[in-house]
Amino acid sequence: MTRDAGSLLAVSDLHVAYPDNRAVVAGLRPRSDADWLIVAGDVAEKADDVEWALALLADRFAKVVWVPGNHELWTHPNDPVDLRGERRYLNLVDRLRGLGVVTPEDPYPVWHGNGEPVTVAPLFLLYDYSFRIAGTATAEESLRRAHDAGIVCTDEYFLHPDPYPSREAWCHARVEETERRLAALPADRRTVLVNHFPLTRDPTRVLRHPEFAQWCGTDRTDDWHTRFNAAAVVYGHLHIPRVMHRDGVPFVEVSLGYPRERQNRPPRDPLRRILPPPAEGAAP
Ligand SMILES: [Fe+2]
Ligand SMILES: [Fe+2]
Repeated sequence: MTRDAGSLLAVSDLHVAYPDNRAVVAGLRPRSDADWLIVAGDVAEKADDVEWALALLADRFAKVVWVPGNHELWTHPNDPVDLRGERRYLNLVDRLRGLGVVTPEDPYPVWHGNGEPVTVAPLFLLYDYSFRIAGTATAEESLRRAHDAGIVCTDEYFLHPDPYPSREAWCHARVEETERRLAALPADRRTVLVNHFPLTRDPTRVLRHPEFAQWCGTDRTDDWHTRFNAAAVVYGHLHIPRVMHRDGVPFVEVSLGYPRERQNRPPRDPLRRILPPPAEGAAP
C-alpha cells in the first residue's frame, strides 16, 4: 500500500444480507493508508449486520462516513432490534459512533487530500413524495396510482416515522435542520454532499417503474449542489450506478446493488473514486 494523500472513495447499497454481497464487502480494501470511504446507505436491514460491515470497513479505512438508507430504517420482523423511526436511527448512530464512523449527527469532517479543504457532509434527508407521477396533482393521488399499479415501496410497511406523524414530516424536519448546518459552513468551502436518496429528480427519470420515484427524494434539495458549493454529490438507492452532471457538478450513484442486478453487467471495482476527480473518460 502506498503512502500518499489518499482518495475519497464511495460505495452504497451493500445489502449484506445477501451472502454474495457479504463476500464483496469482506474484500473491500483501501488503495492507500489515507483513503476515506463514504458508505451511502442500505448496508442491511438488521442492526447487527450494519454494525458488522461498518466495523470491518472502519478497521481498514482512514475514515468511514455513513448515512442511513431506507433499509437500515426498516423495523424488520426478523431483527431483534425492534426500535422504530427516529429511535432506531439514533440507536444506529450510537453503535456506529462507537466504531469511529462519522454519522449525519457528527461534525462534518474536512478532507484535505486535494490541497484545498473539502467538507464531506453526510446527510439524512429521506423523501416527501414530491417526485410525483406525471399528471398527478397531489402526493395522495400519486401514491394511490402507485398502489393501483402494484408498485409500492416496502418502506410503506416497515419504515416507521415515529415520533413524526409521517415520513414526509420527518423528511421536512431533516431538510430544515440540515439546511441550517450547511448554511453555517464557510461561504467559499467546497463540499461533497452525501445522501442515500438523490438530491435532484433527474436520476429517477430512467426508472423502469416511474411510480417508484416518489420514494426517492424531495424537491426541496434541487439546488443544494450549487447553493452549497458541491465538488460532487454522492447518492445510491436507485441501484443504477452512473455519473450525471448538472451545473458542472458530478452526481455519482455508487451502489453495489443486488447480486442479480450485477449478473449482466461487466465486473467493476465496487469503490468509486470521488476525489481527486477521475480523469475525463476514466472509470470513477
Ligand atoms: Fe438499496
Ligand atoms: Fe434504498
